[in-house]
Amino acid sequence: MNEQHPDAPAVDLTTAGRINDLKRRHAEAVTDAEARAADKQHAKGKNTARERILGLLDPGSFVELDEYVRHRTTAFGMDKNRPYGDSVVIGTGTIHGRNVAVYSQNFTVFGGSLGEVAGDKIIKIMNHALKTGVPIIGILDSGGARIQEGVVALGKYGEIFRLNTAASGVIPQISIIMGPAAGGAVYSPALTDFVIMVDKTSHMFVTGPDVIKTVTGEDVGMEELGGALAHNRTSGVSHYLAADEEDALDYARNVISYLPDNNLAELPTYDAESELEITDHDRGLNTVIPDSPTQPYDVLKVIESIVDDGEFLEVQALYAPNVVIGLARIEGSPVGIIANQPNQMAGTLNIAAGEKAARFLRMCDSFSIPIVTLVDVPGYLPGTDQEWSGVIRRGAKLLYAYAEATVPLVTVILRKAYGGAYIVMGSKQIGADLNFAWPTAEIAVMGGSGAVNILYRRDIAAAAEKGEDAVALGKKLADEYTYNVASPYLAAERGEIDSIIEPAGTRVTITKALRSLRSKRASMPPKKHGNIPL
Ligand code: HXC
Repeated sequence: MNEQHPDAPAVDLTTAGRINDLKRRHAEAVTDAEARAADKQHAKGKNTARERILGLLDPGSFVELDEYVRHRTTAFGMDKNRPYGDSVVIGTGTIHGRNVAVYSQNFTVFGGSLGEVAGDKIIKIMNHALKTGVPIIGILDSGGARIQEGVVALGKYGEIFRLNTAASGVIPQISIIMGPAAGGAVYSPALTDFVIMVDKTSHMFVTGPDVIKTVTGEDVGMEELGGALAHNRTSGVSHYLAADEEDALDYARNVISYLPDNNLAELPTYDAESELEITDHDRGLNTVIPDSPTQPYDVLKVIESIVDDGEFLEVQALYAPNVVIGLARIEGSPVGIIANQPNQMAGTLNIAAGEKAARFLRMCDSFSIPIVTLVDVPGYLPGTDQEWSGVIRRGAKLLYAYAEATVPLVTVILRKAYGGAYIVMGSKQIGADLNFAWPTAEIAVMGGSGAVNILYRRDIAAAAEKGEDAVALGKKLADEYTYNVASPYLAAERGEIDSIIEPAGTRVTITKALRSLRSKRASMPPKKHGNIPL
């Protein structure tokens, strides 16, 4: 029944009367509710669901939908409390002038919990995003499934997970966690492309500290268990640790600026023509690689030298920092960068780094973003921990991701490219289109000293027995091996490297390579789907 508002004057069915009625209802649904929400959220140092949406979208672009939705639950006296809009705000708007869809959970209504109608609102806006081919951004602040609604609430989560999966690789999906995300509810963000968490005020966990204490006896606090730092540094669930809510929204806007609206849309580019002569700035790359092969350097310097305006949006910066991933532009067009980081664990590949790079690569591939790979990898991290944790199965993900990618793939070997790690990091044979190496590149089954210890073990032992300087002999043989066997010119001789380039020429070479690959067409054989090692 369409109830008469308690504050309303006698029924007035004139047009003016109906407009006034709408204004009263709108005030109750939005303005008054917003004032109450602001009091509660601001007291906790948080913004309201609507304030967050307004901070995310271009000014004046938000169109709210379903603000008059109300739940129909009667159990637990719920029929006495039926706030307009229920526990989530949904709608459409623009970011950098491009359409997006958004939902934002309202913790001040039933703890942002998800019951039937809140679930239906999220499902409605996700369907809208899928139908219109635009990114969906979810802002989460919720106690999870609405306890009073039981299986109905659980069912809605099931529908949301299915939509997240259907949308995966079709439209960009971003989750911004701005409060609790507990229980199975965490799996919606987990299915999306980017998870952004706010330091100190956001928490994600499948089972909370109390349940853990009861079941396992383990004592752990909420922050340590599922805070933003834990999920950015330790679990790898989150892609960005935001200092505050504003920082989180800025990062999301920034991410969107690199992504297309959907998998069939053009990439967002701006008109820019790169300088094709080597500049003084480019020449700085000639001194990046230290003379000693064991001395690290920061690969971010290389990345910032080759991308437009040195702007690099790093993703998962705190997790597995031995590999660097992120988005940038070259000649105004988005690229994904994957680079070994020699100043972290000498740039070795481990399980975490492989999974981090693989998921990023697949995200880029699904949205047709070309990949530039910068290689300096001494090999896989050895050890029982890695082997027993499944480095074979889990390390294979990165191979799979490169091998199935159909976007333009450009690889530059900066220094070391040893063993299986050479193959996996965008080698020609795994599917890269254009492969370059700096003259400092070392490409071989293993590094000089390792190889010499196997090939010349007897000679070195004999020298030691004769009282000769075995260490000096080993070094001489290792240097000869590096020069003769690990030489990039051997790889170039066989066409596995397309050209050896001066470091200073990297930006220009990559720019021209990406230009030549703009019309690349490639596809995998028809199949239902592959079976990536999970
Ligand atoms: C209904 C809920 C709720 C829920 C919180 N509230 N969670 N109402 N269903 N799931 C209500 C509270 O009753 C309270 O109402 C208001 O929201 C604020 O909650 P507080 O506890 O006062 O807030 P806070 O101290 O900040 O604690 C927040 C919290 C805690 C950590 C989220 O509320 C909590 O632990 N909630 C339960 C979390 C949970 O276990 N959810 C189920 C997860 S399983 P009043 O009226 O007092 O203001 C799940 C399955 C998903 O989600 C299914 C996937 C398949």
